Amino acid sequence: MVTIDGPAGAGKTTLARRVAQALGVAYLDTGAMFRVLALRLSSVAADTPAGEVAAALSGLDFSLRGAGADTTLLADGVPVGDEIRTEAVAYAASTLATRPEVRAFLRAAQQRIGRDVPLVAEGRDMGTVVFPGAAHKFFLDATAEVRAARRVEQLAAMGRPADYAAILADITRRDVQDRTRAEAPLRPAPDAVVIDTSNLDIDGVFARIMESAAPAA
Ligand code: DC
Repeated sequence: MVTIDGPAGAGKTTLARRVAQALGVAYLDTGAMFRVLALRLSSVAADTPAGEVAAALSGLDFSLRGAGADTTLLADGVPVGDEIRTEAVAYAASTLATRPEVRAFLRAAQQRIGRDVPLVAEGRDMGTVVFPGAAHKFFLDATAEVRAARRVEQLAAMGRPADYAAILADITRRDVQDRTRAEAPLRPAPDAVVIDTSNLDIDGVFARIMESAAPAA
């Protein structure tokens, strides 16, 4: 088990996919799970009772198909698509992720998947809460400015217009919510290798992770 945690835009998903491919194991994008719930539970408000939210979640089944870069996350047997990849969905996911009953539901689903197959698991609390016994833990960080600039570049490469100031504001707002929530806040596990990626490219971070994670997944 390899865990990769860190804030929005630190490059976790790209690296988890690459590391999983190199190790020949599946990767689990747990942010995608929170995003799926944000879409399904769009009517949940701050005053919605926990029992109601838990009831809406029961029966929802997450699973993985394939391995390496071809790993696919399925929700009720259906591949999760690009509809979850908007900043509005990301912020709704971050808000939902402050709710203990939502975290408990996803923690159980993530641990069940992790029992079945070797994994590279990425998110916010993989090394601290979900897989505390993982053999290799990494925490990727970078300044909010660097992460926002990377996001602008990614969007530009896809031909989508991007406003640096708006993206920086979105990233900062989500960071605050993810780092300050009471349950499973974003922070490195005591035994995680912390990598500041501000001055490293993706190949540099990949090499650093593989140095310690290659012998065993
Ligand atoms: O990794 P991401 O940007 O797709 O995650 C979206 C939100 O989901 C993130 O802002 C907080 C929440 N999340 C979480 O609380 N715990 C995780 N393990 C993964 C994501």
